[in-house]
Amino acid sequence: MDVKALVAKMTLEEKAGLCSGQDFWHTKAVERLQIPAMMVSDGPHGLRKQDESGDHLGINDSIKAVCFPAGCATASSFDRELLYKIGETLGNECQAEGVGVILGPAVNIKRSPLCGRNFEYFSEDPYLASEIAASQIKGVQSRQVGTSIKHFLANNQEHRRMSSSSEVDERTLREIYLSAFEGAVTQAKPWTVMCSYNKINGTYAAENKTYLTEVLRDEWGFDGFVVSDWGAVNDRVPDLEAGLDLEMPTSFGLNDKKIVEAVKAGTLSEEVLDKAAERILNIVYRFEENRDTTAVFDREADHEFARKAASECMVLLKNEGVLPLAKEKKAAFLGAFAEKPRYQGGGSSHINSFKTESALEMAAEYPVVYAKGYDTKEDKIDEKLVAEAVNAAREAEVAVIFAGLPDAFESEGYDRQHMRLPECQNHLIQEICKVNENVVVVLHNGSPVEMPWADQVKGILEVYLGGQAVGGATVDVLYGKVNPSGHLAETFPVKLQDNPSYLSYVGEGNKVEYREGVFVGYRYYDTKEMDVLFPFGHGLSYTTFAYSNMKLDKTEMDDTDTLTVQVDVTNTGDCFGKEVVQLYVMPPKGNVIRPVKELKGFEKIGLEPKETKTVTFTLEKRAFAYYDTDLQAWNVESGSYQIALGQSSRTILAKQKVEIRSTTEKRPELNMDTTFGDIMEIPRAKEVMAEFAGALSIFGQMEGDTLGEGTGDMMEAMMRYMPLRGLIAFGGGKLTFEDTEKLLERLKKL
Ligand code: BGC
Repeated sequence: MDVKALVAKMTLEEKAGLCSGQDFWHTKAVERLQIPAMMVSDGPHGLRKQDESGDHLGINDSIKAVCFPAGCATASSFDRELLYKIGETLGNECQAEGVGVILGPAVNIKRSPLCGRNFEYFSEDPYLASEIAASQIKGVQSRQVGTSIKHFLANNQEHRRMSSSSEVDERTLREIYLSAFEGAVTQAKPWTVMCSYNKINGTYAAENKTYLTEVLRDEWGFDGFVVSDWGAVNDRVPDLEAGLDLEMPTSFGLNDKKIVEAVKAGTLSEEVLDKAAERILNIVYRFEENRDTTAVFDREADHEFARKAASECMVLLKNEGVLPLAKEKKAAFLGAFAEKPRYQGGGSSHINSFKTESALEMAAEYPVVYAKGYDTKEDKIDEKLVAEAVNAAREAEVAVIFAGLPDAFESEGYDRQHMRLPECQNHLIQEICKVNENVVVVLHNGSPVEMPWADQVKGILEVYLGGQAVGGATVDVLYGKVNPSGHLAETFPVKLQDNPSYLSYVGEGNKVEYREGVFVGYRYYDTKEMDVLFPFGHGLSYTTFAYSNMKLDKTEMDDTDTLTVQVDVTNTGDCFGKEVVQLYVMPPKGNVIRPVKELKGFEKIGLEPKETKTVTFTLEKRAFAYYDTDLQAWNVESGSYQIALGQSSRTILAKQKVEIRSTTEKRPELNMDTTFGDIMEIPRAKEVMAEFAGALSIFGQMEGDTLGEGTGDMMEAMMRYMPLRGLIAFGGGKLTFEDTEKLLERLKKL
């Protein structure tokens, strides 16, 4: 379709109309020109397509579908291929159901464990989040169905999500919050981007030209359309000008009228409207012209895949020889989630699962007894349920407690109040530990919980919100049919108060300041060398791995060069397993305040016992860079960088250094406040300064008199921080203000 020509044929009213939805889930059709409507549906971890026989308010039931593991789980797989396959499966379901865009993935950074929507989000680390998102997007779009990466930008809490302003400094936005989107947008080219409800530094995301146009389109080359989160439009005309193309859901014609009036009044250029119409139609036709009419939504097959996917995501947090369970071992499955797992979160991502399977029913072939232990609807302890569970545990060789957060504890729309499990569950775990020494806790939750009992149990398996097939997947991992290979995409702090955003999360009134800056998650815990419950990247296996022969292809380089890193990984245990090799870059201590390490690469590999594979990483400038707000660019300080390879941010197994030379000369701003130390960094500044040595001699006289021993070093340190204007006050009258000005001018010319 020649979309430009089509737009040229459209009336002003038709073009304005196209910029908002027809109803909750469709773009507008234009019958006169045979322009079709396109359906969009939530996402991100299953198809939530509203049953079209129903109402148009979006509150009707959605069709029966398959719920895959949520973002919290899929990110833990650290598996690009798996995410691609999940995406491909979702894309196929969309083709079969005539859905043009699936609303996701959701990549917002987990700033605090309390965000009600963390279960949908991927990580506290932007590199991991963007890599995982890119794979899912590529998978969906390989089936010629669009994605909508969301929620752009700085939407990291549910509290006042529609009115709150996220106050974030530019470097933090660049390095953390934008970065989570950047890699996915540039690599995977999502068809659409969904802007968030909140404001960013006082301006609604929907009308933030800096991010919607300058960063997203001009810098990153995004060429799809921007859609508002449902109801996120603030003021339609400025929003359109800022780069927000499609308003969803419908505005009942009100905003279409505003657009028409603005064009007629000359306050909005028709070109802006044409561009938006073009962007929307490009996507409508990309879907329309690539329909796969043979696609079938095979729910049973997708359910089986959801089970496999869930097992690949699970994170074995602790194992003191208790797992995998021997199949003849008498086990007690305790806790209501064994019978009815919590496998997804509340809100727009909620899937109408066509079936669900519990661990209890999937463990039918094993000698398992069950006791409920607690009630998910109540937080209070039910002594009768506890007593039944204790009795069952006493008789069993191993007690597996299925714990986690009930629905009401975390959901879209509000944040968690604390990081604890329900009291009744903590109590149950502690009571069971008194009668059985082989306790395993299986956790169903969308974000970290405090574990006061962590030292008392022998095993902890984090299954997150694992989708409708989580029951079978849990059994597969517990009994060793699948060797766990998930790793945490977020740190589990010991307690909520340890989290770097603790003091400023959720802000005051309609303002939330991101005071921890770039020190999000492990960037903070590791720099502070704080104890954590489980570090970022942590995850155990039923086998063991060894790293050897780490090699860098160079030990010195310019920041424009590429560095290749290799390591051999061997499976040293006796069963097949998958290892996630994580690469962290540790910058030198320079002038810029930086986290001690940042994830810049990861690879997941499968290894048979005794098998060795070589893993290769390629690092470019960006892997070493911070965002320099003076230069308005990514920049690398010269110095010695360590490349660290390991199994978590705290388990580093191999490390090597590379000396990097910056190719960007960064000059200090020169004025009377510039210090001698900064001036001396300028090439040839020494020669000029030498001419003024006389004026500095006064400092020599102070030696001995006032400074005591070790005066040489002290003088040097004092001088380093002496600003130019100090020449007048401390120069013994040898230099006038004019002389100092002259010196400044000479320095500026260097
Ligand atoms: C959510 C989005 C979702 C949209 C449509 C909004 O409330 O924030 O994530 O895609 O609704 O359901």
